Amino acid sequence: MRRLVRETHLEPSQFVLPLFVCPGEGIRKPINSMPGNAQLSVDEMVKECEEIQSLGIGGVMLFGIPETKDEHASGAYADDGITQQAVRAAKAATPELIVVTDVCNCEYTSHGHCGVIVGNDVDNDRTFEWLTKTAVSHAKAGADMIAPSDMMDGRVAMIRKALDAEGFSNKPIFSYAAKFASVFYGPFREAAESTPQFGDRRSYQMDPANYREAIHEMELDFEEGADMLMIKPAGPYLDVIKAARDRFPVPIGAYQVSGEFAMIMAASANGWIDRDRAMMETLTAIRRAGADIILTYFSKDAARALA
Ligand code: PBG
Repeated sequence: MRRLVRETHLEPSQFVLPLFVCPGEGIRKPINSMPGNAQLSVDEMVKECEEIQSLGIGGVMLFGIPETKDEHASGAYADDGITQQAVRAAKAATPELIVVTDVCNCEYTSHGHCGVIVGNDVDNDRTFEWLTKTAVSHAKAGADMIAPSDMMDGRVAMIRKALDAEGFSNKPIFSYAAKFASVFYGPFREAAESTPQFGDRRSYQMDPANYREAIHEMELDFEEGADMLMIKPAGPYLDVIKAARDRFPVPIGAYQVSGEFAMIMAASANGWIDRDRAMMETLTAIRRAGADIILTYFSKDAARALA
């Protein structure tokens, strides 16, 4: 009877698994705070993509960890950059798997910030050049969808224009539209080696206290041409997910981030919580709030649990 009247369903095809790709060969370097996740060299990532595809998971979100970082984030937009190599390899091996790329600079800058530094601050507009070059290079490599996570104002319009000008008018933009300055990104920054070397990200990421501002940020991205909108983190921001679902006709994504994952894993490692039930309950709640797509480090386990 419960199954008959169930309102919310999870499908592996709605999950996107974030992957961290590093230089080298045969590398699988476990990420301490994110059990089961690892930095993968391109060849290992390809094996992972094959498994992900066979589980019926919708897609992967690629994060590159470059060999070297510099002040100009040059690894982010290099044609043979780590993400560009990873995209080519993933699309060649598993063409049916949707490959989304995170467009940001923090993994590629020596200072760890998401944009161009002028004085002691990130300069919003000067960051556009890096972002548009990166987006175009990902599209050229074959990415199915571009996901800007930098949170500079106006970047969706700039990226759209750049993609169109290069003949990629059919590549959708999946915008991290409401991205909060969250403590829950902690484990990710270890995984992606992207902790800011000075200051924090509060000048470009949102105050967790602000709901109306979140709607405003999403409206701007929508008007600038975002094809899908993302809310991040997910669990602590279910009200924002619900508002997005009610207001915008486009698909809504929610990112269950590294800290949300790590909390469940840590508690279950201590025997304090049932991991699988916590996984399914949190994912179901994110769906119930209105997310069509869930980016989650639980993608594989949840897909297996649903099989
Ligand atoms: C890049 C980016 C971050 C995450 C996704 N893209 C980190 C940040 O903003 O510091 C976090 C994802 C996670 O915690 O799982 N800017």
